[in-house]
Amino acid sequence: MDDRPINLYEYEALAKERMPKPEWDFVEGGATDEITISRTRQAFDSIMLRPRMLVDVDVRDLSTTVLGERIDFPLMMCPAGHHIRAHPDAELATVRAASAMDVGMILSSGSSVVMEEVASAATCKLWYQQYFYRDRGVTELMAHRADESGYSALCITLDASIRSKRERNLRNDYMLPASPNYDGLEVSPGGFAPSSDDAPPAFSGMVSPKATWDEFDWLASKTDLPLIAKGVMTGEDGRLAVENGVKAIIVSNHGGRSLDPTFATIEVLPEVVEAVDGKAEVYLDGGIRRGSDILKALALGARAVLIGRPMFWGLAVNGEEGLKHIIEILRDEFESTMGLCGKPDIASIDRSVIGTVSPLVSLPQFPS
Ligand SMILES: Cc1cc2nc3c(=O)[nH]c(=O)nc-3n(C[C@H](O)[C@H](O)[C@H](O)COP(=O)(O)O)c2cc1C
Repeated sequence: MDDRPINLYEYEALAKERMPKPEWDFVEGGATDEITISRTRQAFDSIMLRPRMLVDVDVRDLSTTVLGERIDFPLMMCPAGHHIRAHPDAELATVRAASAMDVGMILSSGSSVVMEEVASAATCKLWYQQYFYRDRGVTELMAHRADESGYSALCITLDASIRSKRERNLRNDYMLPASPNYDGLEVSPGGFAPSSDDAPPAFSGMVSPKATWDEFDWLASKTDLPLIAKGVMTGEDGRLAVENGVKAIIVSNHGGRSLDPTFATIEVLPEVVEAVDGKAEVYLDGGIRRGSDILKALALGARAVLIGRPMFWGLAVNGEEGLKHIIEILRDEFESTMGLCGKPDIASIDRSVIGTVSPLVSLPQFPS
């Protein structure tokens, strides 16, 4: 008998038992009152679906493309630091799971395994996440290393240049390890050495709070990799991203780990999609826990979604196999939700499948 968990919440509960409390709190927690985190599930759960009958859904095609690259279904792995906190194989387990399931992965610049080694283990779509550093030389160097080692896009995280207050980490006196990606780099005093909390002063000091949208133009002059903006939460910024040559946008609030309180990403997705007006691909992360969440995000204009914390749950419970199973569960749930809604393929998922929503999610009128 298969005694594995049957959904992501069961994985979450098991992972909590297995991970040391400070690591668990680091992964699970958010900033200040964690209002953003609880609002995220409320928002998803407030959206009801409108199923259509007698559509031929015998064959369901879940595949799609992100920046022109095919993935088996619209899911990617979020950039998230230090997978070793969940499993000794760390990002190597993650990249093997993503490759086996043919979904995308964005490696965090805070990975436990050096970026070149992760790239050489990948057969999946693999992108690299970094920041606009105060030292443009570091920004450029990391972009070149990503390009040379085979990453096919560069994701710039915009919402982590200011240190947020994560009280669980403060209580645990949590020490963030250094990433080997920064080994040997000549950086300012303190550099990327281990330090307390998630966005330690030394690290925050390296990420530029001075950067403005034209930094994308500058970076585009230094690399041929397509640039992705992660952390967009408003239509205004969606428009600016497009104007500054960004090829894709991740609607993200860093899983409620940066600004708190702010909106759930699913609430602001329609606003960003409208502002971007098809000129860039739009993805969403934050609170994806069910296949139906994927369908909701796609119906509201996302091309794909990403998962963050669930990666750690899968890894903590059973390494590569655990994460593969997490992805499989999401794929199966997504596939059956598509079928039950009368949607045989990705192109058929549109806003008409979105029904009742709570006042949390305000949407333009549904088609009559
Ligand atoms: C433990 C952990 C570490 C993270 N590290 C990074 C990071 O290094 N870079 C980044 O852009 N986002 C990071 N994030 C944010 C995720 O990319 C993502 O926005 C968020 O986790 C999505 O929400 P979810 O966890 O509810 O799926 C991290 C998230 C977690 C949980």
